Amino acid sequence: MVVRLHEIAAFCMGVNAIIGIMPNPSSSKISQPKSNQVVLPQIAQARLARLQARTARIGVIGLGYVGLPLSLLLSEAGFKVTGFDNDAKKVDELEAGLSYILRILPEEIAAARQQGFSATTDFARIADQDAILLCVPTPLTQHREPDLSFVLHTARAAAPWIREGQLVVLESTTYPGTTEELLIPALEAGNTQGLKVQTQGQSAEHGVFYVAFSPEREDPGNVTVARRDIPKVVGGHEAIASELAATLYEGIFARAVRVSSTRVAEMTKLLENIYRCVNIALVNELKLLSLRMGVDIWEVIDAAATKPFGFQPFYPGPGLGGHCIPIDPFYLSWKAREYDFNTRFIELAGEVNEAMPAHVVQSVARALNEHKKSMNGARILMLGMAYKKDIDDLRESPSLTVIELLREQGAEVVYNDPYFPTVGRGRHYNLNMSSTPLTDLQQYDCVLIMTDHSDYDYGAIVNESKLVIDTRNATKGIASEKIVRC
Ligand SMILES: NC(=O)c1ccc[n+]([C@@H]2O[C@H](COP(=O)([O-])OP(=O)(O)OC[C@H]3O[C@@H](n4cnc5c(N)ncnc54)[C@H](O)[C@@H]3O)[C@@H](O)[C@H]2O)c1
Repeated sequence: MVVRLHEIAAFCMGVNAIIGIMPNPSSSKISQPKSNQVVLPQIAQARLARLQARTARIGVIGLGYVGLPLSLLLSEAGFKVTGFDNDAKKVDELEAGLSYILRILPEEIAAARQQGFSATTDFARIADQDAILLCVPTPLTQHREPDLSFVLHTARAAAPWIREGQLVVLESTTYPGTTEELLIPALEAGNTQGLKVQTQGQSAEHGVFYVAFSPEREDPGNVTVARRDIPKVVGGHEAIASELAATLYEGIFARAVRVSSTRVAEMTKLLENIYRCVNIALVNELKLLSLRMGVDIWEVIDAAATKPFGFQPFYPGPGLGGHCIPIDPFYLSWKAREYDFNTRFIELAGEVNEAMPAHVVQSVARALNEHKKSMNGARILMLGMAYKKDIDDLRESPSLTVIELLREQGAEVVYNDPYFPTVGRGRHYNLNMSSTPLTDLQQYDCVLIMTDHSDYDYGAIVNESKLVIDTRNATKGIASEKIVRC
């Protein structure tokens, strides 16, 4: 008998099903499948059927910038979603139908709740889920090493509640090997039922759960690609986990891209982010040279981008920001040391990009000097706290570093950002500032554009200011001697 995967749900009640095409095995014993053939045991069949029918219950752990939109997408597709977070305030807000992420409207939370979405801090509810998706932070420590404490704490908290046949997927960005070396041992060690992860080449009928890695490709503020049109890379610890995870994601994304292992999936995400990091460093370095040569680097990039092949534009800026590009490459350079390998491109890119905030501050000092002003005592209005335009995220934002550096030199800094009425305390800062209205710009010695939010009227800002330092080419097309691009 031949079984096709998409027919499994309708077909195989009470018999083993097969991923790929092969004769039906006669018993529930572990079989020896040929290369691309894997026996699907009954405990996985039931989950697969529910995933295909979208009647599966999905738990999302970590309801932040990644986990909350993912929960809503799953909910919209018909899945019954339970969100888990250890931040009780977030859970309470979601339960009250509110949203703490600007681009997510309370109406979207309400629609998800109608569809059965609920949020909780109670990890015991993990036991009721068919699949659990982990979307917790993966920052760097103070010594710029991977901080996997969030993943580890989550795994330890979830482990007692993992049940036979469940699928666990890690979505957090991390180095190759994390799923196998850290997540799986923690889940197995803490499981009160003694369950083990399904291993490659076997298809146990009992006592196992399934594990996969699937990196998140969310691009906050990007309105050109719908989230569901971003293909989802999926790598299972073995073939059954791959199939279950790919089936789940095919329910919400246009395409799932199956790769051969969790390590390949982990490395894919890092390649994507390192590619960005290195190319941004390249244009940042060329910007520094172009400034000396009196060449407009932004005009150069726009011209080069007309080439229909072999060139993708990247843009210089005041430094890297966000939870990904400034952090993720260092996950790989850290892991590379285990293999006596030095990731020189990553280190060099880091060096160039990390020097950009200091370059901005130097440019401000030089421009003030030309206006016969010293940095000490200068009144500076910074436009933009967010790490990129039109979003409410300031994690790792270069604006935070630049404020610190300007203040060290005696400048008096205020800011305006429509996305941040106030900025309090974070992991690396404690500012306690409020957004200043964009009025009476003449009172400032300099207006410093750090984020090119679309809401700003740059023509009016230039008109009303004494001096404008533009780190983003936001004033493109405006001719004025008051503008210094840096
Ligand atoms: N933000 C992005 O644009 C983006 C894009 C791609 C990938 N990623 C990756 O996705 C992962 C999550 O990032 P994010 O931006 O959503 O982070 P976030 O900080 O916005 O959200 C993480 C959530 O996890 C919760 N959490 C932390 N520890 C927990 C625990 N032990 N149990 C339950 N909940 C816990 C936090 O309270 C928070 O709500 C990271 O690995 C990041 O690198 C993020």
